[in-house]
Amino acid sequence: MQRVAVNLKARAARYEILVGANILPTLGKEIRACVGAATRRIALISNQKVYDLYGEIASQSLRGAGFDVNRWLMKDGERHKSLRSFEAALGFLNQSGLQRSDAVVALGGGVVGDLAGFAAATYLRGLDFIQVPTTLLAQIDSSVGGKTGVNLATGKNLVGAFHQPRLVLIDVDALRTVPPRELTAGWCEAVKQGASGDRRLFDRTVRLLRSGGTNSRQWLNNQRSQAGVCATIAAHCRFKSSIVAGDEKEGWARNDSRSRRILNFGHTTAHALEAVTGYRRFRHGEAVGHGMLVAGELSKNLGMLAAGELESLREAIALCGPLPSADDIDAGELIKAMQADKKSVAGKISWVLLESVGKARIVAGDQISGRTLRTALRDGLRAAE
Ligand code: NAD
Ligand code: GLY
Repeated sequence: MQRVAVNLKARAARYEILVGANILPTLGKEIRACVGAATRRIALISNQKVYDLYGEIASQSLRGAGFDVNRWLMKDGERHKSLRSFEAALGFLNQSGLQRSDAVVALGGGVVGDLAGFAAATYLRGLDFIQVPTTLLAQIDSSVGGKTGVNLATGKNLVGAFHQPRLVLIDVDALRTVPPRELTAGWCEAVKQGASGDRRLFDRTVRLLRSGGTNSRQWLNNQRSQAGVCATIAAHCRFKSSIVAGDEKEGWARNDSRSRRILNFGHTTAHALEAVTGYRRFRHGEAVGHGMLVAGELSKNLGMLAAGELESLREAIALCGPLPSADDIDAGELIKAMQADKKSVAGKISWVLLESVGKARIVAGDQISGRTLRTALRDGLRAAE
């Protein structure tokens, strides 16, 4: 098992991310070691699908470590990452009699993690929170860094809080049951992390995808490739932690290449694609896949990125698996949706572009002409065909 430390230097806080195969049975023991003897009750939040697969193992392990366990299963799907589910989660924490010394565990993908984390951030003004991410996207990205929240009808993640977990436990064996599309979405976010800030991480991710493909059962059944997957997931957590450590709350005025904002590479177009298709056509990571191709085209057309680098990015995204088509979507609609996005700063669309694979630059939208943007949208959205 690998242990990755997240050191939030600005406020001397620290937590660990544990990564390994078949480590879910150690959940109770690891939480006990982290929260101490006073914690009596754990509120476990999951959904039916994930609970049927992993809930009993998690609950048994928690009981074995002396915790009383109450559970609540939210409805599955992005549309349930809502204020209504949030209110239901708070009702559950209240009925369970949770006290300040108790803790919330999120067992599931990013939807469960974001919602449970937000409930933990706000109930009794903040409870300890443990992430047990079960999708690839949640394991390499959403469980690390403390962003929690819910969607409004008008947009994604518009309400939330920064609330760091006390512990993240990543059992890569959970990836055996993750459907192929969800894996593709996760790998796209993995490519994003490498491309935006760490060339070696990008190369390592591409090597893994070239050698093992995206079929999780295949790599997890082979001990050598299982070790490679664990090491790569841990490397992603280490990278994300290093960015979060230096810019925990994503300072909006920061523009440098270590700002947390670089993790939004691909997201300007991705959020617009998701919004104009009513959140139905794309998994979030798939939209990020298209978004990176658009940002890559823009970077090249603005003379920042060499053609060969854009080709490496294209190859990496292709290795993640097929993306739903996007070239029928009207560029004007996308630009309108971009202007409404919460990532806009001082009324301007903000772009994370690339100087090279592994080095991002943040560029204000008013430095990009409408024509250049439309060309990049046209070529980028065709590139995955
Ligand atoms: P998800 O949580 O919807 O999970 C995808 C599907 O896989 C769901 O049907 C889920 O029930 C199922 N599932 C989960 N684990 C499984 C397993 N082991 N086996 C079989 N099925 C499993 O989607 P996601 O991609 O994990 O997360 C997307 C969410 O994460 C979005 O809401 C996005 O906004 C958020 N996100 C948050 C951050 C952050 O920093 N907080 C970062 C990136 C994304
Ligand atoms: N997923 C981007 C971030 O956590 O900042």
